[in-house]
Amino acid sequence: MAYTPYSEFKVGAALLTKGGKIYRGCNIENATYTPTNCAERTAFFKAISEGEHEFQCIAIVGGKGEDISTEICPPCGVCRQVMMEFCDPDSFKIILGKNMGEWEVYTLRELLPFGFGPANLNA
Ligand code: THU
Repeated sequence: MAYTPYSEFKVGAALLTKGGKIYRGCNIENATYTPTNCAERTAFFKAISEGEHEFQCIAIVGGKGEDISTEICPPCGVCRQVMMEFCDPDSFKIILGKNMGEWEVYTLRELLPFGFGPANLNA
């Protein structure tokens, strides 16, 4: 469902809640570029807007064109920061897929070391 008339780079994300529900997201681009929303944030915002606040992991795939992506698509910095708001950095897993059936798994802590989150404001 990615809406990508400008980059042709299509991304899909599937966010798994602790309760076992999956929220899917795609990237949605815009003619003025900056309002573009990444697939990961689309998935998070769909879930949050439905009342979900606890998450296990997110799977992400993306690439240019119609072919199966041969490279992983790491989440951008803004999306990592959104994950930091709602996820435990040591247990939340980010699964990066490629080539139909290959994947790499990272914790949010690995992809966002020294991230600033809600706990910092309570310190
Ligand atoms: N994009 C995502 O949706 N997720 C990522 O992790 C990286 C980038 C999108 C934004 C834009 O529509 C396109 O990919 C190219 O940057």
